[in-house]
Amino acid sequence: MQGSFSCTAVSPVSSYGQAPSLTTFDEPSALQSRRMPRQGSFSGIISQCPRMKSVFSVLEKVARTDTTVLVLGESGTGKELIARALHSLSGRKGKIVPVNCGAIPEEILESELFGHEKGAFTGATASKVGRFQLADGGTIFLDEIGEMSPKLQVKLLRVLQDHIIEPVGSTRSIPVNVRIVAATNKDLRKEVEAGRFREDLFYRLQVVPIELPALRERDGDTALLAHYFLEREAEKLGRGPLRFTTDALTRLAGFEWPGNIRELENLVRRLAVLSDGGLIDTPDLPEYVRGDESIATAQATEIFELPAGGLNFNEVVDSFETNLILKALDRTDWNKKAAAQLLNLNRTTLVEKIKKKGLEKLRKEDSLRDEPVRPDFSAIAE
Ligand SMILES: Nc1ncnc2c1ncn2[C@@H]1O[C@H](COP(=O)(O)OP(=O)(O)OP(=O)(O)O)[C@@H](O)[C@H]1O
Ligand SMILES: [Mg+2]
Repeated sequence: MQGSFSCTAVSPVSSYGQAPSLTTFDEPSALQSRRMPRQGSFSGIISQCPRMKSVFSVLEKVARTDTTVLVLGESGTGKELIARALHSLSGRKGKIVPVNCGAIPEEILESELFGHEKGAFTGATASKVGRFQLADGGTIFLDEIGEMSPKLQVKLLRVLQDHIIEPVGSTRSIPVNVRIVAATNKDLRKEVEAGRFREDLFYRLQVVPIELPALRERDGDTALLAHYFLEREAEKLGRGPLRFTTDALTRLAGFEWPGNIRELENLVRRLAVLSDGGLIDTPDLPEYVRGDESIATAQATEIFELPAGGLNFNEVVDSFETNLILKALDRTDWNKKAAAQLLNLNRTTLVEKIKKKGLEKLRKEDSLRDEPVRPDFSAIAE
């Protein structure tokens, strides 16, 4: 099948006030052969779709201000990437400090954000500087803000209003100069209506809301991103150039990507690792992406035609199982607890299967590489 793509690469936004440079590719051949921009000193944001261009223009307008920004979008749509780009463009001298409000229990989160004094609670053997202070002069990225407890919402409101923090167990007020970027994949307005999120905080946070479209809503971006990621992976692996066939690219572009760009990125990484030659073709794609009428795309309960020549039962079942597991891991960014929940499996069962199938080697190794301050919360997150 011959697909036709009209793609535009947006160079990583490189300086404030400078419009992202646009290059148009009209032919699949051009798409295949032209070099996509590398991830620059700011996180690379690749897109050709008009809705993302509006996002870029908002980013450029607000970056140099101290305005609080709320980034909204489904999981894997690039919320953190946007936060990092905002920080890079802001010219603020401090660092960007990410905090995942959904992965950390309330008591720990409070002391993570605001710090604590020695003896403030059992186990506080030394005083600790909070992330707001670490981000002084820079940006704090409050991810999954919709998960924040009511008590911490009050404390956060205070920071937004007065620009001061109070460490746990202290009466000291410490002034901080921190730009706040928050993100959520929840509908915060609904959370407000349901009484789970403070209305005053909601309005304070969403001074400038940036809504990221899902990948399926970004015309032309799937093929563009797939090509970009493949080229990047080939380079990382020290391999010669890797390419998709036009048919494979068409299948990728036609898939819905519920896990958005992260899911696409993880799949391309896996395809690059596993590819033997320089060309990735349709049969190399997982069956759920190919969209074939085959066993792996069918629901387990669905009836399918047994091929006339029969099939190898164990192999087919094994590959079906592997596909399901990888899909769940892609979608949850290898959070095994969440993946196990998606599959209705015990976490230990899933872990055993991952081990037995040797899937761990496909896990992305550099997920935390770029994050300057992120303690190991794996015990909590997993
Ligand atoms: N437009 C883009 N161009 C290139 N890479 C992108 C783009 N958007 C997202 N990515 C990549 O996709 C991955 C997921 O992005 P990110 O972590 O920012 O998403 P997210 O919205 O924060 O997801 P979640 O809600 O699950 O935390 C990252 O590796 C990021 O670098
Ligand atoms: Mg995120």
